[in-house]
Amino acid sequence: MFKIKTKRIADAIGADVLNIDIRQPLSSEQKQALLDAWAQFLVLRFRGQPLTDPQLIAFAENLGQLDPPGPNPQGKPYLPEFPELNVISNIKQNGQAIGGLGDGEAIWHADMTYMNSVPVGAVLHGIEVPPEGGNTYWSNNYMAFTTLPTELKQAIEGKKAIHDSTYNSAGIMRIGMQPVTDVRKTPGAQHALVVRHPRNGKELLFLGRRRNSYIVGMPVDESEALLDELWAHATQADFTMTQQWQRGDTIIWDNFATLHRRDPFDPNTRRLMHRAQIKGFTPVPARMAA
Ligand code: SIN
Repeated sequence: MFKIKTKRIADAIGADVLNIDIRQPLSSEQKQALLDAWAQFLVLRFRGQPLTDPQLIAFAENLGQLDPPGPNPQGKPYLPEFPELNVISNIKQNGQAIGGLGDGEAIWHADMTYMNSVPVGAVLHGIEVPPEGGNTYWSNNYMAFTTLPTELKQAIEGKKAIHDSTYNSAGIMRIGMQPVTDVRKTPGAQHALVVRHPRNGKELLFLGRRRNSYIVGMPVDESEALLDELWAHATQADFTMTQQWQRGDTIIWDNFATLHRRDPFDPNTRRLMHRAQIKGFTPVPARMAA
């Protein structure tokens, strides 16, 4: 009987997995233990296991069906041989970026919540990492919900927010978009602020991304103030973990139950990550207790 060994990264979220070699096919027992640990810790880290792209794809397939990246600013996959993978990098070759998100900050977000169907997770593999900076942080959306003060729970009861599709997390406008001048008309999916996790039914605070967000039906100033309170609550340090990247790290995260952000780093250093995304679900609104 396989027993997974884990070590917490932070009290609120995240664990290192100490006894799975993700370069090898997983047994059904290992796979089940991995899925259970993922559901428990929300973010799992595997250190010191450099992966080839086929190994990354094979490992990610243990978590669900892969969800190839949407169109990038270059209009073609960054890795033509492996179009199911995305590249996150600041590196340029012949003047052209080999991946997305550059070297700046990527603000708190969950991936692609501006779509109706939201990826359930992602796998990020560190191939080249800068000597400092470029740390990534994750926060726990279950904890954000369960600790939400009663008056905030009441204020968002039954409410939906718009999840902006105009900008990516690095502040780069997506192709074909226009600046938003009225948040009530922000393009992007509308999701309930409290949803149930598609795999276990637990309630969580589902914020997506702050920029251009709007709580449907509220006066704009009230929506702004309430969103600011919700975001400050959800991303407080006690609910987060920090990832200082080492070459050969692989992180998997639950994209419903977490938010993530990334620090900027020195543009004269190199950072290269390959990333797989796991197909998801349309979020289901939670009915909160009266
Ligand atoms: C991302 O937001 O998916 C990228 C995070 C990172 O670059 O660490």
